[in-house]
Amino acid sequence: MFLARGAGAVSSSYLTAKTAHDPMEARVFVDSLSKLSSLSSGIYGQFIEHLGKCIYDGIWVGPNSKTANVKGFRLDVLEAVKGIKPPLVRWPGGNFASSYHWEEGIGPRERRPRVFGPAWGAEEPNEFGTCEYIEWVRMVGAEPFIVVNAGNGSPEEAARWVEFCNSRGNTRYARLRRELGYPEPFSVKLWGVGNELYGRWQVGFCVDGEECARRTVEFVNQMKRADPSIKIVAVGCDYDPGWNVDMVRVAGEYFDYLSIHRYVFTSHQKRYEDLVAWPIAIEEDLVAIYRTVQMARARYHVKREIKLAFDEWNVWYPEAQPPLLTQVTRVKDAVFTGLVLNALQRLSGIVPIACFAQTVNVLPLILAEDDGRIALTPQYLVFKLYAEVQKGDIVRATAFSPSYHSGELDRVIPYVDASAVLAGGSLHLYLVNRHPDESARVEVFIRGFTPSTARHEWVAGSSVEDANTLDDPNRVKIERAEYPFKGIVELPPHSVNAVTLS
Ligand code: AHR
Repeated sequence: MFLARGAGAVSSSYLTAKTAHDPMEARVFVDSLSKLSSLSSGIYGQFIEHLGKCIYDGIWVGPNSKTANVKGFRLDVLEAVKGIKPPLVRWPGGNFASSYHWEEGIGPRERRPRVFGPAWGAEEPNEFGTCEYIEWVRMVGAEPFIVVNAGNGSPEEAARWVEFCNSRGNTRYARLRRELGYPEPFSVKLWGVGNELYGRWQVGFCVDGEECARRTVEFVNQMKRADPSIKIVAVGCDYDPGWNVDMVRVAGEYFDYLSIHRYVFTSHQKRYEDLVAWPIAIEEDLVAIYRTVQMARARYHVKREIKLAFDEWNVWYPEAQPPLLTQVTRVKDAVFTGLVLNALQRLSGIVPIACFAQTVNVLPLILAEDDGRIALTPQYLVFKLYAEVQKGDIVRATAFSPSYHSGELDRVIPYVDASAVLAGGSLHLYLVNRHPDESARVEVFIRGFTPSTARHEWVAGSSVEDANTLDDPNRVKIERAEYPFKGIVELPPHSVNAVTLS
């Protein structure tokens, strides 16, 4: 069937000589009857850290600020974050988490101590603490995901945090929460135990996976006494399989997700084609880490199911340096982002959680200046495209397209990537065209679904170097078109596309 239809539709353009203006020919096969897994909304998560101007001046300006705010939360940022419907937001770090003492961040703000934060060498005013985080995350409509201090903190301190957040009892920390004006528990289900403890840059780092595993056991043992129902994310390492095996061997019955972080360190000198090749390596690496975890579970008889939490990921440019870690990402980074989100959709069954690092001002999706200006990056626009559909089934989608060679990865990379979600009676195609200059004419073949209309939204800009800046915030926009679906979708060069077929 595929061949018969394909031959009829494309033979004329194959037979005529290709000109410089002809689009690249590609095909996408979607088997709507072949479900890979359910879509996990958790892959559209975000990450905010006490670092640079992410929390302070980004999310929190304080109730007395001249900047428009609701109860101290910066209004334009709040609305922008709501716009990408994050299912969960990880906090308070990052490196910051490994020296954060949560009890300094509760109670009357004027009495909270201003302390030195050794993670980033910055001053921490403690104006934004657990209660502010929970209020903000609920206003955004997300679930909380708290990372406890397993660097220079103690299991007891972490267990007190769980009690403060989740207990309905008549005990000290549950009562304290009520006294502070929160009668109902915060019901924080997801807890990270430590951050990047494999790295010597981390306060309280561990010398090997076994030390981290033992520390994890100590923490979880005490945290679960305060609330046995919580789910745990433990520290994994993206480049050290031995670390991950030790974590599973020693602590495998104590956690539900292994945390993996990946930044693609890049520069504006890097060849665009190499940057947008990286999501293929990321996808393969996540699969390899998951396999290592499953082999270790089998080898050491670990019964608990363990999946991955890809809870920090992004590109990182040299300009993003402490103390602010800010950068202005461009359309090429949006293409990278769309490709990672496609990969995460496909991996939804084994990597159900992912958090983009970070949401505001630090390696940011959203740039928010003290003078009230705001810019939504092309990466943000890509999240907006994807976050519209958070429930459904991932079905098999296979793209065939011309390819190129990435020198950096030393491999052949297809120009077109495809992922598909069946949801609410529509088929949602997520199509990325990596090509820097050519559009792609994609013939779409679908088994088990016959759509008649296409609603097509895309992010492309006019060049891979286009950006939305504070001075020029609307250069790159989401474009839209609706048309009768005749089996063809045209993808602009360097574009991320969400096509709803109904
Ligand atoms: O996101 C910035 C930093 O990168 C985080 O604090 C840390 O976890 C990672 O190394």
